[in-house]
Amino acid sequence: MDKLEKALQKAREDRERVLAAAMPPLEADPEPPPEPVRTMTRPLSPTELERHRVVVRSGKGDNIDLFRMLRTKVIQQMESANLRTLAITSPQYGDGKTTIAINLAMSLALDVKQTVLLVDMDMRKPSVHEFLGIEPALGLSDYLLRNVPLSDCLVKPNVERLVVLPVAGSLHDSSELLGTPKMARLAAELKSRYPDRIVIYDMPPLLTQDDTLAFLPQVDGVLLVVRDGVSPIAQVRACAESLTGRNFLGTILNDSRFSA
Ligand SMILES: Nc1ncnc2c1ncn2[C@@H]1O[C@H](COP(=O)(O)OP(=O)(O)O)[C@@H](O)[C@H]1O
Ligand SMILES: [Mg+2]
Repeated sequence: MDKLEKALQKAREDRERVLAAAMPPLEADPEPPPEPVRTMTRPLSPTELERHRVVVRSGKGDNIDLFRMLRTKVIQQMESANLRTLAITSPQYGDGKTTIAINLAMSLALDVKQTVLLVDMDMRKPSVHEFLGIEPALGLSDYLLRNVPLSDCLVKPNVERLVVLPVAGSLHDSSELLGTPKMARLAAELKSRYPDRIVIYDMPPLLTQDDTLAFLPQVDGVLLVVRDGVSPIAQVRACAESLTGRNFLGTILNDSRFSA
């Protein structure tokens, strides 16, 4: 092991120690399996939806058909391989992950065959709640760090068959939470509990947070969002390489200058 490798190894070990100290002990987790949502329905703000390009719900915008097409493709791929959970990531911030995750989740929820759970996994820059115009008191980080019951963290917007697990507040140092055993257990639980539910994870970027990649084995499929004219080709290649051989389903070209 050379000096650099040793230093990296030590940094990794230090980080794991800090994290282990911050996390509640796993065996002390008294929580029963997640229950169905008991929270009240939250009405969404049409103005906020429109401002954040949540076109599927607002019914306005040129891209509704594109999301219908995306939904059809996603459903086909998921049904043919019996996939139930899907992560949406991209090289960097600003590529359109959240925009696509929310529109896709709403589009899937329009299909009566399944319910959809949309999970905000970006604890550093959570924005699902902002796009939807809701202010959650509790969210994923409260479940992971404070043992708050999951059912208290779930939000039911007034969109049929859609449930949201938001993040309340942002946690700058919590990105490593995605790689913890508790998060892995939650992902397994969310997948197995309801057979007719699709779980969409709105992930952090792939290239700026190493635990994004660490979490991806917990999901059935991964979609990579690439922003036309913004994502550098070298970064797209780096992402494709790190996803190859895993559960990589395909790439979505966002904000394309080409029409469908
Ligand atoms: N296709 C698009 N056309 C125009 N603006 C977009 C498009 N996709 C995303 N945006 C805008 O770009 C910004 C970043 O999008 P966001 O979904 O938050 O990216 P990420 O989740 O990857 O950080 C937001 O202001 C969003 O409204
Ligand atoms: Mg985002």
